[in-house]
Amino acid sequence: MRAIITGGAGFIGSTLADFLLAKGWHVTAIDNMSAGREEFYAHNLGNPSYRFAQLDLKDARKVKDAFAQGADVVFHLAANADVKGGADHPTLDLHEGCMATSNVLEAMRAAGIGKIVFSSTGSVYGEPEVFPTPEDAPFPVQTSMYAASKLYAEGLISAYCEAYGMQAWIYRFVSILGERYTHGVVFSFCAQLRKEDRLTFLSDGTPRKSYLYVGDCVAGIWHGLQHAKGKVNILNLGNDEEMPVRDIADIVVRESGRKKGEIEYVLGQTQRGWIGDSPHIRLDIARMRKLGWEPALSIEQAIVRTVRWLEANPWALEGKYFRGKG
Ligand SMILES: NC(=O)c1ccc[n+]([C@@H]2O[C@H](COP(=O)([O-])OP(=O)(O)OC[C@H]3O[C@@H](n4cnc5c(N)ncnc54)[C@H](O)[C@@H]3O)[C@@H](O)[C@H]2O)c1
Repeated sequence: MRAIITGGAGFIGSTLADFLLAKGWHVTAIDNMSAGREEFYAHNLGNPSYRFAQLDLKDARKVKDAFAQGADVVFHLAANADVKGGADHPTLDLHEGCMATSNVLEAMRAAGIGKIVFSSTGSVYGEPEVFPTPEDAPFPVQTSMYAASKLYAEGLISAYCEAYGMQAWIYRFVSILGERYTHGVVFSFCAQLRKEDRLTFLSDGTPRKSYLYVGDCVAGIWHGLQHAKGKVNILNLGNDEEMPVRDIADIVVRESGRKKGEIEYVLGQTQRGWIGDSPHIRLDIARMRKLGWEPALSIEQAIVRTVRWLEANPWALEGKYFRGKG
């Protein structure tokens, strides 16, 4: 089987590439390296089943050329994954999310590729009223450019399925943690602890969110692809648990070998850490569970693995995403 993975040099995309190669698939990874890391795919470069192509999905012609070779499934993971950046750069998600997805779908249509897996987000639910939030919860109001672009992409993918007989697996992820993690709250806390005895929070520390280990995320993508047979399969991927940001800080401090009393916590004033931040995220994973998937790791286990990996790979803390604090 042949896969094209967009965002193949990123955190989740490179993990997915390794997963598919281990399953015996041929993988073409595409990335413009705006946030990708060579360290995440260099080990595959000698593998005859693996090909890396550096190109920008905003260039429609180049995407068409790259897809002309064909594939059984396109895993479209490339996007601006920094939710915070959207309000400062209001056209960023339009280009990296909406336009790039349109180019991917047109290139698929031209090449006759019929299956797409898409990485959406639990942020499309905005600030929901139902917890855990099921896939069919109402979400009329978007709170970030990022989620709005994901919702646009979900809609466009569904319309291509209707118009051109494609099949889609749309996964709405909670926040993902684990090896090769390059952005998010655990990253920011680890980066801060390397420099100072203080953790500055963007929020007041009370937001409660759900997190999922990257190995569970990739296994879930695979499982849904094998077992969900609809035309457009929309599936939450998350964990039954949720954890307040303050508790995450405590685990990061402990795992970094520090004592809680030694570290000053500087809390923000509001519950929302940034424009578009949702203070409570926990997704209902009953649909995935019904298909036979379960997350293997708890949130705490996922945080521990993330901190250990960042400690062992300090170069990753010089990440391209790190613009501020947790
Ligand atoms: N990490 C999470 O917690 C999380 C949660 C929900 C959804 N997602 C979604 O999952 C996907 C992967 O996220 P990630 O955490 O691996 O992010 P990431 O930033 O590590 O990976 C995205 C990759 O896409 C590449 N890219 C961006 N724009 C591109 C373009 N125009 N052309 C080609 N490549 C481009 C980047 O260089 C990067 O390597 C994203 O779509 C993200 O929105 C992630």
